[in-house]
Amino acid sequence: MTTSIVVQDVSKTFRYQAHPTLKKVLQDRLRGEHAKGSFKALDGVSFEVQQGESIGLMGLNGSGKSTLLKLVSGVMRPDEGQVLVRGRISGLIATGAGFHNELSGRDNIYMNAAMLGMTKEETDAKFDDIAAFADVGRFMDTPVGNYSSGMFARLGFSVAVHVDCDIFIADEVLAVGDRPFKRKCLKRMKEIRESGITMFYVSHSAASVKKMCDRAIVLDKGTVGFDGDVEEAIKFLHYDGDDDEPDAEDEDERDEELANDI
Ligand SMILES: Nc1ncnc2c1ncn2[C@@H]1O[C@H](COP(=O)(O)OP(=O)(O)O)[C@@H](O)[C@H]1O
Ligand SMILES: [Mg+2]
Repeated sequence: MTTSIVVQDVSKTFRYQAHPTLKKVLQDRLRGEHAKGSFKALDGVSFEVQQGESIGLMGLNGSGKSTLLKLVSGVMRPDEGQVLVRGRISGLIATGAGFHNELSGRDNIYMNAAMLGMTKEETDAKFDDIAAFADVGRFMDTPVGNYSSGMFARLGFSVAVHVDCDIFIADEVLAVGDRPFKRKCLKRMKEIRESGITMFYVSHSAASVKKMCDRAIVLDKGTVGFDGDVEEAIKFLHYDGDDDEPDAEDEDERDEELANDI
């Protein structure tokens, strides 16, 4: 088996970007409190992923999932430890990242594809498929600044899934977009997974992780809280038992339905 991703004792520290008033700074000093200048978004994270594995990355908001994906995709570097990745990466780490509002959907597709390592010829050959998947219709030649957030997501996702890659990463991409598009994305991700591409998928939806992944990593305040079986990971996530919010359950049921559809 080939190793696809190695994350070794990785830490990432961010500075608080707070802008306290002079009064607040002086008050804190007088009280002997010093606002801490930095915090660790990731703290000693280690794991390995084999080529073809499909990993669900889960955890509460702020637990470090997006930061970890950015390190894996090379958008950021770790402060400590190392991240090794074998092969070409495609995917979406943020909706609309790298898009230019004043350019048309068409121009943005070419630009985005180029950023993901596609040549103009490759993009030409795949353009019709990308456009059909994005399904933004007659808005293809209008500036994306006028797109709805759902349309933005469709365009970005559509480019990402048409890039030949060894590793596919997706950060909560299904959070926006309507049901038919979500269904289409899940279906396409299933194909990607079945073709032996390593998948690294951030999602809050237990149902889609169950459907899509053979292993789950749960981040807990920047550390690996759990790494292993998906069912176990989901149990781990519900350890505090506060999942009886009616809305959350509705959402889960709808996701379950959607996941079972594909
Ligand atoms: N560029 C940044 N500068 C400062 N703090 C950041 C930055 N990116 C993320 N953080 C902080 O790091 C923590 C982890 O964020 P993130 O990885 O986005 O979490 P998640 O994706 O799990 O919700 C959060 O507290 C967030 O505010
Ligand atoms: Mg995130």
